[in-house]
Amino acid sequence: MKMWSGRFRQPLDPAFESWQRSFDFDCRLLECELEASAAHARALQQCGIVSGDELGAILHGLEQIGESVAAAPEFRDDPDAEDIHHFVEKQLVELIGDAGYKLHSGRSRNEQIATDLRLYVRSGCDEIGEAISNLIAAFLNRAEQAGEAAMPAYTHMQRAEPVLVAHWLLAYVEMLFRDAGRLNDCRKRCNVSPLGSGAVTGSTLPLDRELMADELGFDVPTANSIDATSDRDFAIEFVNGLSLLAIHLSRWAEEMLLFSTQEYGFVQLPEAYSTGSSAMPQKMNGDLLELVRGKAGRVIGDATALQITAKGLPLAYNKDLQETQEPLFHATETVLSLLPLVAGWMESVQFDFEHMQKAAETGYMNAFAAATYLVRKGVPFRMAHEHTGKAVRLALDQKCELQDLSLAQLQAIAPQFADDFYDFVKLGNVLAIHDVPGGTAPARVHQAIAAARQKAGALQQEAHAHA
Ligand code: ARG
Repeated sequence: MKMWSGRFRQPLDPAFESWQRSFDFDCRLLECELEASAAHARALQQCGIVSGDELGAILHGLEQIGESVAAAPEFRDDPDAEDIHHFVEKQLVELIGDAGYKLHSGRSRNEQIATDLRLYVRSGCDEIGEAISNLIAAFLNRAEQAGEAAMPAYTHMQRAEPVLVAHWLLAYVEMLFRDAGRLNDCRKRCNVSPLGSGAVTGSTLPLDRELMADELGFDVPTANSIDATSDRDFAIEFVNGLSLLAIHLSRWAEEMLLFSTQEYGFVQLPEAYSTGSSAMPQKMNGDLLELVRGKAGRVIGDATALQITAKGLPLAYNKDLQETQEPLFHATETVLSLLPLVAGWMESVQFDFEHMQKAAETGYMNAFAAATYLVRKGVPFRMAHEHTGKAVRLALDQKCELQDLSLAQLQAIAPQFADDFYDFVKLGNVLAIHDVPGGTAPARVHQAIAAARQKAGALQQEAHAHA
């Protein structure tokens, strides 16, 4: 039987009826729905609406529904179920009879969907948080393996200064830490219980809201029933967090694609994560990277869809809110599926350290250090910049590097140049003088790896605490 029909004289238009259903996608919420329904059932028994026996039957019935769907997913192919809430009610009544209809006493689908989605987002935060942790570990392993290998760092896509490969990899680790942090923050605000909010103004039965919240692992019950049943800001916050993560991964993918070209030649695409061309036999394409970059667009689209759905809604529940589900599910499933693949790619990619090192030694990337050399000799930086620029110009004309110029040539530009200049602009020294916290001096990078390892450990512990 329908969850509503008494006041209707005409049947629904069949096309409209099937069109407005959400069961095809909200069936993902089955577990959340069963858990939340069990908490509600216990509260009903406490206030005398269902007997101890009825409660036992309801709880057992809910469990059986979960088991049946787990054993045979097609069990949930129910063309008559309007949504997940209707599906569970129908199944329950089939299993235990009319006592099943008592479960809906004092509650509304509006609070149920708000509760189910909060449970869904909370577990999304946890699962994605764990996948980010694993990816961070993959980056950290590669950073450690890179030792003191160097490569060019780019600004404006032009060679800028040499940098440790490990330092470059740690840049991605920092982005991922912030992405994980955003999900942890989101989880805190999301973790409140709408149960007992009713359709809009609160339940008409004296349900113990604290107890229900507690049973579901929520921190507290929500403070306002109108807000609780009508806002989806937790989903928007979550999917926005995912879109930032997707943006970071898309930037990573783009850089890896560039670095894997023959023009850069810094990384060799792992065969296990690449594909070939049906036409050009020599080709190997970085499809994983391109799809990560492409899927980021759709996750950003999900975030935008959620925002636009919410922005024009008056209080309180409106059916438009049903439209927030698919973008939420899509973003969650997309990110969950790509994170382990990105980790696998990172673990198997080969860096051409020799090539990277060579690239780090040419292209006047020691010019900033050369100017610093003059600064340390007392030359004001603006003049030091000019002198070094002139030296670069001369080297360009002579098709050589700065260190290939003779001392006489250098001193003709600035008398402060001396013999120790040549050691100062060697790659090892250029790296070493970036000796500030967060800089690429090898000692600082070792510290940074250790600090990141610690932070990653703390992140993992937090994840275990939630498990
Ligand atoms: N399927 C609905 C949704 O996802 C559940 C809530 C329906 N509430 C209502 N008053 N029709 O939003």
